[in-house]
Amino acid sequence: MIVVLDFGSQYNQLITRRIREMGVYSELHSHRLTADEIKQMNPKGIILSGGPNSVYAEDSFRCDPEIFNMDIPVLGICYGMQLMVHHFGGNVERADDREYGKAEIQVNHENAMFNRLPHEQVVWMSHSDKVINAPDGFRVDAVSESCPIAVMSHSQKPLYGVQFHPEVKHTEYGNDLLNNFIFSVCQAKANWSMANFIEIESQKIRQGVGNRNVLCALSGGVDSSVVAALIHQAIGNQLTCVFVDHGLLRKHEADAVMDTFRDEFHMNVIKIDAKDRFLEKLAGVSDPEQKRKIIGNEFIYVFDEEASKLEQMDFLAQGTLYTDIIESGTETAQTIKSHHNVGGLPEHMEFDLIEPLNTLFKDEVRELGLQLGLPEEIVWRQPFPGPGLAIRILGEVTEEKLTIVRESDAILRDEIAKAGLDQEIWQYFTVLPNIKSVGVMGDSRTYDHTIAIRAVTSVDGMTSDWARIPLDVLEKISTRMVNEVEQINRVVYDVTSKPPSTIEWE
Ligand code: XMP
Repeated sequence: MIVVLDFGSQYNQLITRRIREMGVYSELHSHRLTADEIKQMNPKGIILSGGPNSVYAEDSFRCDPEIFNMDIPVLGICYGMQLMVHHFGGNVERADDREYGKAEIQVNHENAMFNRLPHEQVVWMSHSDKVINAPDGFRVDAVSESCPIAVMSHSQKPLYGVQFHPEVKHTEYGNDLLNNFIFSVCQAKANWSMANFIEIESQKIRQGVGNRNVLCALSGGVDSSVVAALIHQAIGNQLTCVFVDHGLLRKHEADAVMDTFRDEFHMNVIKIDAKDRFLEKLAGVSDPEQKRKIIGNEFIYVFDEEASKLEQMDFLAQGTLYTDIIESGTETAQTIKSHHNVGGLPEHMEFDLIEPLNTLFKDEVRELGLQLGLPEEIVWRQPFPGPGLAIRILGEVTEEKLTIVRESDAILRDEIAKAGLDQEIWQYFTVLPNIKSVGVMGDSRTYDHTIAIRAVTSVDGMTSDWARIPLDVLEKISTRMVNEVEQINRVVYDVTSKPPSTIEWE
């Protein structure tokens, strides 16, 4: 395993990802981790990430200096290298110009990171401070035009520093440099794969759970589906899943969840048909926030009611991902929550949490899902909000309006899949804006609903751009919606990005 210490660089998750892609397990941790804590993790190497600080700033992030004496290889990247220089008494200076973007480095001395790589390379720089003098014991291995020390290494200890960012794609040989550090310097073995992840996690789950029972709220989304499949593989029917069908799901979605988990995987899934209950509560409500609150609360009441009918459940399984944990910084990264009350569940429902995905990134969860035998439709399912179609109907939710959204959404999904765009577009759905307009069909005037298509590209849902769906695909979608869905006589396409819009309309 390789430990990456986080000094706040926007690229730090990328470092961990790149290493895992090489088949070596890697974790991102707070820079506050002590040398002793690191030693206990028995890592093959340590990487100090970049970061926005200057090493001379009073409150700049530091690391335990003992890590440089542990005889474990350390690679400092950008700020990480400056910190190493500062610690060993070299000079770091504020550069006149911030160096940002591509630069060419010239390798003068080959250190192990340059094995079999050319002596001139294009790298990606992003820094304002730079190292002027290498500390005693270090030698300069590469320079760039504006950077007198682009790469350095210690002559006796396994300590390396690079001023540029090897983890970003713009660094021509970045992956090779990291690869050399991981395998030639750290002597790590490529033995981390999804197959052994499944084996190790299943064993941990079996040991932790013993003969007790686990409850899981299954939504049909990627994360809860993969968690359920993994835990089921480990402990079989000691796992009970509760699937609340609030009637706000997409066409055939509830059936697909039951077909997969109950019929194919033979899992213990209790389906609660709560459609009428939710629609009753939503009747007459048109405020978006109130709709969300009603749905969230009702979900918990239904789940609680069902759980209290079951025999003793000791654990609650959750599909928390690594990114959910480190999003708020790694300060809290490895806090294991236990006896924790989750998602507003009532106080009398106390569970220990099982979160077996909390070391994985989203794409790794997808790979895990495939290895566990989940169908592609689930593994590649686009994000779907908890309040479901209710927030895609502006204003009051009625059964009639749900049908319009559900049917038009099914056509959109079908045509996007036929056009081979389903893995390219991050999220796509229809929205009923609740406006009627005049049209003409045959020889008759119509006065019917407008449906809006929303399709976006995004990485994390925080920002997005509208997807450039080819016009001929849009044409097919529009024709089918007007012909096949009663009460639609107009189709519009939402061409706003986020910000200033949001992805959902409510
Ligand atoms: P917005 O509309 O805020 O959406 O740009 C960003 C992403 O979050 C999803 N979303 C939700 N997911 N519960 C969820 O689980 C919600 O209440 C919710 N609201 C929005 C949305 O689909 C998009 O992927």
